[in-house]
Amino acid sequence: MEPRHFLDLADAGGEALTAMINDARERKVARRGWPKGRVDGDAPLAGRVLAMIFAKNSTRTRVSFDLAIRQLGGSSIVLDAASTQLGRGESLADTARVLSRMADAIMVRTDDHAKIEEMARHATVPVINGLTDRSHPCQVVADLLTLVEHGKGLRGLELAWLGDCNNVLHSLIEAAGLMGYNVRIGTPHGYLPDTGLVDQARTAGSQIVIVADPREAVEGADAVATDTWVSMGHSHAHNKLAAMAPFQVTEHLMRLAKPNALFLHCLPAHVGEEVSEEVFEGPQSVVFDEAENRIHAQKSILLWSLGALG
Ligand code: CP
Ligand code: NVA
Repeated sequence: MEPRHFLDLADAGGEALTAMINDARERKVARRGWPKGRVDGDAPLAGRVLAMIFAKNSTRTRVSFDLAIRQLGGSSIVLDAASTQLGRGESLADTARVLSRMADAIMVRTDDHAKIEEMARHATVPVINGLTDRSHPCQVVADLLTLVEHGKGLRGLELAWLGDCNNVLHSLIEAAGLMGYNVRIGTPHGYLPDTGLVDQARTAGSQIVIVADPREAVEGADAVATDTWVSMGHSHAHNKLAAMAPFQVTEHLMRLAKPNALFLHCLPAHVGEEVSEEVFEGPQSVVFDEAENRIHAQKSILLWSLGALG
């Protein structure tokens, strides 16, 4: 049987995503107040090993995947790509074949999305995308969980995005098509998300609107999301920062969204750039719930990839 790779949200589809969100919520509630390393009662992944390869920095993804597999009864091995033989030129294909003999799943954070696709072609265990330049699907499972937990129904939800058109936005657009919500993107002229992903979401019935006026993007929104203006591995071009400046999520812009709108950010944040301190620290901000939910979301992703969910 083909392994259940999780390179993008469409690999799972809308039904499995719903199952993931529900399972994550149930497991989160069931272990409320427990020590963070205690194993869930059913230990569904007892004895399973997750290998993680990081070719880029990480705090949340690394710690949450480690906790997730532990809480499910398994364990993890963390590899820094540069200090492995990958760093000396061993091929992705051979690395995938070797790790498939030593681990039950492989999580990869890297730059070029083609690299993770190459690993998935050669792995005989599931490969999970822990962020590429193109997408960040694990983050978006946690984002959807956070929205649902805060009482937002996903079908028909109006999500506003301000700023750069990056990997996180791509996965939010992909999820829109799968879960039936709409995205209004406020971004400067000359910046656009991947047109293939936009077309896919539109074909699935979602409205994906791209505007150059940040006020238009946030007007009446149920949630407003943003991310750093310069993603890992990208250059700090001065003209980009200047172009992005009007897209900072400020209290003034938040007031144009619905009164109970939530503010989302995958973190790490650059407070004073893409978001003002008032919004980041304010009552509408759920960014630390989002961060915690990475653990609960990763558990569902691991369970789905290993055939124990959906
Ligand atoms: N949001 C996120 O993926 O954080 P890290 O880069 O710390 O893993
Ligand atoms: N867009 C950001 C997300 C970090 C979690 C980056 O790729 O650096």
